[in-house]
Amino acid sequence: MAKHALHTTVPELFALVGPPGAGKSTVAARVRPGAVVISLDAERGVAGCCPADQAATPAAVARATERARAALRAGATVVWDATNTVAEHRRLLLELAAAHGARATALVVLPELATVLARNARRDATPCPGCGWPRRVPDGVVRRAHAAVTLAAPALTAEGWDRVEWDGLSQRRDTSGTYRDAPASMVAVMSVQHGLHVSHAGDDGEMLVLGHPPLERAVAAFTAEEALIGDCPLLDPAALRRCWALLDRPGPDWEVTYIDTPAPGAFPVTITTV
Ligand SMILES: Nc1ncnc2c1ncn2[C@@H]1O[C@H](COP(=O)(O)OP(=O)(O)O)[C@@H](O)[C@H]1O
Ligand SMILES: [Mg+2]
Ligand SMILES: [Zn+2]
Repeated sequence: MAKHALHTTVPELFALVGPPGAGKSTVAARVRPGAVVISLDAERGVAGCCPADQAATPAAVARATERARAALRAGATVVWDATNTVAEHRRLLLELAAAHGARATALVVLPELATVLARNARRDATPCPGCGWPRRVPDGVVRRAHAAVTLAAPALTAEGWDRVEWDGLSQRRDTSGTYRDAPASMVAVMSVQHGLHVSHAGDDGEMLVLGHPPLERAVAAFTAEEALIGDCPLLDPAALRRCWALLDRPGPDWEVTYIDTPAPGAFPVTITTV
């Protein structure tokens, strides 16, 4: 009999995506029982002076990457606890997952900006005597990180993540499929319908599917009563428009401007009208 080890577990990589103070480390601890949680803060504490020691970031990333490789090779589930607000950092994590045949999930942690600022404000602002970095992050950094995640989140699927999950979102969905009491930061940019990430489904049936996925896989149409996915008979391919969207005002009253060519800050969209 051939002696082949059967790999019965598919490794998984969960990447937290959220601003400092969002609650990522809290979420990371309960993603999966037994998961290997790799925290850049913790690795900074090992490689450098303390979790705030920014000079230790390159060494911390190297350590974290080695630990993640070993765990994924062993078929484990890895939770990568860092802000991941930068597209390049997320791309490296996607490569890491792909190199190990791991399923890659982006787990967005994005409470309201005021909540995140308040959580950050509870942290110690005193510079560490060892490295000079305080645990509390300047408000401007939190605001920029919050905006970066708000803008990046709708396009995460198109970026290559196998799944995009929003912390706290599934519990807020009522039987009509509407999200109740969800932070505006979530509702404004995105709702999840049948696993697809849709930024907006208007009263008149207009919808917006983010990304430029293959049409047969990911185009969806929504009405108040039903969601039509895949080879949706209501969809006239000629009515589809692939373009780029600029989000003018993140928040409940967001507005989108559609443009025909890529531009800084614009994300790809496929739009149609049902
Ligand atoms: N759901 C929550 N409700 C209330 N406080 C929370 C919640 N999640 C996290 N916190 C608190 O907010 C602060 C920041 O959380 P943390 O997980 O460390 O954020 P991050 O890792 O994103 O910087 C911590 O003091 C934590 O206890
Ligand atoms: Mg943390
Ligand atoms: Zn320090």
